[in-house]
Amino acid sequence: MTTSLWLADRARPNTQTNLGQPSADVVVVGAGITGLTTAVLLARAGKDVLVLEARSAGAVTTGNTTGKISLLQGTMLSQIVSHHGADIARDYVRGNREGQDWLLHYCEANGVAVQREDAYTYARSAGEVETARAELAAARLAGLDAEWDDDADVPFPYHGGVRLANQAQFDPMPLLDSLIGELTQRGGRLVEGARVQRLSHRNDRVRLTTRTGDGTVDVDAAQCVLATGMPILDRGGYFARLKPNRSYCIAFEVPGAITRPMFISAGSPTRSLRYAPAGDGERLIVGGAGHVVGRKSPTAELDELASWAGEHYPGAVQTHRWSAQDYTPIDHLPYVGPILPGDEKVYIATGFNKWGLAAGVAAALLLSSRILGGRMDWSKAFAAWSPHEITGITTAMRANLEVALHMAKGWLAPATRLGRDVPTDGGVVKGLPWHMEAQCSVDGVTHRVSPVCPHLGGIVNWNDADKSWECPLHGSRFAPDGTLLEGPATRGLTRSS
Ligand SMILES: Cc1cc2nc3c(=O)[nH]c(=O)nc-3n(C[C@H](O)[C@H](O)[C@H](O)COP(=O)(O)OP(=O)(O)OC[C@H]3O[C@@H](n4cnc5c(N)ncnc54)[C@H](O)[C@@H]3O)c2cc1C
Ligand code: FES
Repeated sequence: MTTSLWLADRARPNTQTNLGQPSADVVVVGAGITGLTTAVLLARAGKDVLVLEARSAGAVTTGNTTGKISLLQGTMLSQIVSHHGADIARDYVRGNREGQDWLLHYCEANGVAVQREDAYTYARSAGEVETARAELAAARLAGLDAEWDDDADVPFPYHGGVRLANQAQFDPMPLLDSLIGELTQRGGRLVEGARVQRLSHRNDRVRLTTRTGDGTVDVDAAQCVLATGMPILDRGGYFARLKPNRSYCIAFEVPGAITRPMFISAGSPTRSLRYAPAGDGERLIVGGAGHVVGRKSPTAELDELASWAGEHYPGAVQTHRWSAQDYTPIDHLPYVGPILPGDEKVYIATGFNKWGLAAGVAAALLLSSRILGGRMDWSKAFAAWSPHEITGITTAMRANLEVALHMAKGWLAPATRLGRDVPTDGGVVKGLPWHMEAQCSVDGVTHRVSPVCPHLGGIVNWNDADKSWECPLHGSRFAPDGTLLEGPATRGLTRSS
């Protein structure tokens, strides 16, 4: 099934879909870990907080994560040290440590299950040893008590790795349920099925034009936090500073023992592993097959990931498969703060690069303290605007050139597919530029929509593994019938008549 282990078969707590009073001190857009933690922190300080969520809490990245709450984050620290130096890397770790501590303390106090395990960044082959060693050096520079482990006693190829003891992993959904419970108890509100489509400044206030089940409503707030992944506004050029990357997780029932520590490979293709308690035993979760959204249909990589698991955990039977995307910043550091320098009305939190559990909470701590008049002394490593971004300029130029190429290809290539039939359980975009159509057939139903992404006019591609339309420019995704799933777009694809 393509629902995550965390979202499958769970009873949803009752949530509000009725907006009620369309105003608040602070509106938080997005009910993932970042938005809900920010909302709770602000509600604790007595703010009237309204969370607007387009789908349901956790539906996008948080409910589809791998769920590792770790300060050792793949090769993140060596990238930060090499681009920004040891001081910023130390600040990044301090922020993450504060996020991790807050999260673990919250989970303990609220009965949210967490497993404490060691985390590894390991070499899959001799060729990856140098990268893993570099991560060890960077981790130590950044203040982590990491060590090298030559033999981790695992059933897959292992050429040594960095180990950081006593990290954590969990199922993120009980955490979100608990945050929602506290938020509402403190008088805050969460409205699901409420998609913010536009935001404007009015008389020193913020107005959020929001589509709900009851129609479109203008919500008024003194301040607003966009915890939406890629920001939904075209201010601040975040589309040019973030790359949307999607990856896959597969859960297996395994006859024998499952590896206890959490692993992620230092090189590519990524192999990420952990175990997870499940109602009827335990599961092995294997992650990988990452790619830029909309630029690839990763079916072959997924098959390879599944057979890798089967080879090293004989008898493994797949029970769940899911995918999610997160946003990679051009300069390797998250963007948390005012959307534009000096704008203390609209804040953003994004760019977690697939490590946004501890970092998402760090972002919430940072934003809530800023809104309440405080500051975090590690905030430099999370700044939305700062001189360190200069280090990302070449990456940004390359990324924007790629976007331009995909824009051109999207508009030209469909003309070469004019006579092509819609594949069974597949999709195709075809037609001349002034008359293009995206057609797909899923479970025997054919859908026809315009392939033009309502965000900034990219042309969507079909993803066979996810059965979705995906925009190769900035990562908006749509269901077969054009319904918006996620990304910076705020409306779906137009249906053909
Ligand atoms: C495959 C994968 C595995 C990962 N594994 C890990 C891991 O092991 N450890 C780790 O630390 N991190 C991991 N991450 C990253 C981590 O899960 C994310 O960084 C984190 O969940 C981001 O949380 P968020 O609240 O910022 O975003 P989200 O959870 O995506 O929440 C954003 C919310 O905003 C809503 N929204 C968007 N637009 C609008 C709008 N216009 N109006 C209203 N609502 C809107 C969305 O519907 C969504 O619910 C992983 C990421 C991926 C992709
Ligand atoms: S997501 Fe930006 S153009 Fe499609």
